[in-house]
Amino acid sequence: MEQDIENLRQQVDYLQEQLHKQEKMASLGLLSAGIAHEIQNPLNFVINFSKMSVKLLEQLHEVIDDCSDKLSEDDAADMEDISADLKENLSKIQEHGERAISIIRGILLHSRGKAGEFLPTDVGQLVHEYVWLSYHAMRANDKSFNISIHEDIQEGMPQIMVIPQDLSRAILNVMNNACYTVKERAALEGDSYMPAIEVKVALKQADGSSELRIDIKDNGMGMSKEVQAKIYENFFTTKPAGQGTGLGMAITNEIITKNHNGQILLESEPKVGTTFSFIIPVKTVK
Ligand SMILES: Nc1ncnc2c1ncn2[C@@H]1O[C@H](COP(=O)(O)OP(=O)(O)O)[C@@H](O)[C@H]1O
Ligand SMILES: [Mg+2]
Repeated sequence: MEQDIENLRQQVDYLQEQLHKQEKMASLGLLSAGIAHEIQNPLNFVINFSKMSVKLLEQLHEVIDDCSDKLSEDDAADMEDISADLKENLSKIQEHGERAISIIRGILLHSRGKAGEFLPTDVGQLVHEYVWLSYHAMRANDKSFNISIHEDIQEGMPQIMVIPQDLSRAILNVMNNACYTVKERAALEGDSYMPAIEVKVALKQADGSSELRIDIKDNGMGMSKEVQAKIYENFFTTKPAGQGTGLGMAITNEIITKNHNGQILLESEPKVGTTFSFIIPVKTVK
């Protein structure tokens, strides 16, 4: 507990430090994205601790039940009332914490330009941020789970004209699936398996035309040919109810092929893993 409070304190300090850095930036969009990013972590603490406290309360209940014969009827009734109130308070904390998280996600998605707007973008930075975001969202639910994430982002790329709001969502969708699948495989195979995700960003420039390529490779469960054939369909999911909407790849496909006039390559093999590659013709900004 003390350690967790110390961690939280460090995160708040870090947040303040980041805030100070961000304040110097003129762009309000960048500022709100930065804050939103950093606030997610402490907020996840709040939610997870209230979840944990509900479980503790249940245990406390069992203890009290065990020694109910030693309590007067009044005392037992009081305890019942208090613990019911506590439980309700905790669920309120969780509910509103979760609401705050969803507001923050909204800010993150909308802080980079209006819908559908092509903007000069540091694509390397954008990819890095959303890879990070997906990883931490996954870790917030399971602190003990680790993935080795390797990023190979071409250095010195110019600003690239993309729809940052859309591209970031596409990265997040593919990354969330990658995190999910390596976690699934880890649960099946145990310690002998090393979950790994590789992310590569490269820009190919040849006389007047440029091509952006983003690869996200996981060593997760892989997909059968049947699944691969349906993956871009709306509402196609193999995940249990509540875990998947089946919309992530449909939206991603629209973002890359329609909005960015690019293509998605998919390579996947069961028990080996999956690579998604976005190939997008782009304009760069000098
Ligand atoms: N990296 C991946 N590895 C294995 N299966 C994947 C991967 N990405 C997507 N899939 C499969 O494609 C389906 C559709 O993905 P998606 O559209 O993101 O919806 P959802 O994640 O909500 O199920 C998933 O349910 C899963 O079966
Ligand atoms: Mg998905």
